[in-house]
Amino acid sequence: MKPVRSFASDNNAGVHPAILKALAAVNQGHAVGYGDDPYTRAALRRFKEHFGRSAETFIVFNGTAANVLSFAALTSPHHAVICAEGAHVYQDECGAPEKLTGCKLIPVPTVEGKLTVPAVERVCHGIGDQHHVQPRVISITQSTEVGTVYQPDEVKKLARFAHQRGMFLHVDGARIANAAATLKLNLRQATRDLGVDVLSFGGTKNGAMGAEAVVFFNPELCRDFLFRRKQGMQLASKMRYISAQLDALLTDDLWLRNARRSNRMARLLERELREIPGVEIAYKVEANGVFVKIPHDAIARIQKRYFYYVWDEAQDMVRWMCSWDTTEEDVKQFAEFVLAVVGKA
Ligand SMILES: Cc1ncc(COP(=O)(O)O)c(C=O)c1O
Repeated sequence: MKPVRSFASDNNAGVHPAILKALAAVNQGHAVGYGDDPYTRAALRRFKEHFGRSAETFIVFNGTAANVLSFAALTSPHHAVICAEGAHVYQDECGAPEKLTGCKLIPVPTVEGKLTVPAVERVCHGIGDQHHVQPRVISITQSTEVGTVYQPDEVKKLARFAHQRGMFLHVDGARIANAAATLKLNLRQATRDLGVDVLSFGGTKNGAMGAEAVVFFNPELCRDFLFRRKQGMQLASKMRYISAQLDALLTDDLWLRNARRSNRMARLLERELREIPGVEIAYKVEANGVFVKIPHDAIARIQKRYFYYVWDEAQDMVRWMCSWDTTEEDVKQFAEFVLAVVGKA
């Protein structure tokens, strides 16, 4: 069967060969389960190399869990989490954050997918009033769901705002590698050094096969997290196989090489699409996603050959994502097909 290649999602790409190799390497003999193994210890040391000695990391299976468990660690049920109205935590987690933490999520309209201090300030009211949920966490997504990237001072301002009010800044970093690559910052500079308290670290979209982590920059905040992770059904018995993936991703800059590649392919795709009359780039292309408005009829016609998601039906806006393995040829072929279809639409 001919391998299928598409621009639907960075989740649709395969696993990077270096990660598969790391999996084969740990697939030797027996190792104690539930994380008490040398491979997990090595991975956790690797996280400390990247994020600093006092950073505490907990490995989980998926990004939704990383977000939900982060919130659980930071909140009580009378708290609220402020997030962008397009945030994955608000739109795409089937209410898991609300169900499992009891907290209300407060969605905020955004421009280009980013929260700002004035926008957050508008929903921060009723503080100390027993009738209101109490804002406790600001959650941002970096890079955002629409492929934009917060600049360092934008993150710093949100962190300062949160900390001045006894709140925390959480980053959904399903694509933190793409953002750090764009900003030309290392992982610590892109998170901890900007005032982030807790990071959902994403590996899966960047070449792993189901490897994510929650990273706490203030160890005080993770005191009960071992229990929360187990209660949250995210304690992997054969943890070495997740640990090995994250260790590989954080070795020899694999995280960065993969992110740079997918970002570069998105910029190439953007350039190609800009040449096509009738295709309108909807958001700045700052990471690995390209959001475009195309003629209504073209959507289904392109989907006949390439599977992808419609992002906003009302606006005929679609999302095309690049992955660590997207090639220039993939991009050129796809753009030619879009040109052929849109030209006829
Ligand atoms: C912004 C963002 N956060 C988190 C996730 C994690 O999702 P999952 O639970 O499918 O790993 C995704 C995946 O699509 C995402 O796009």
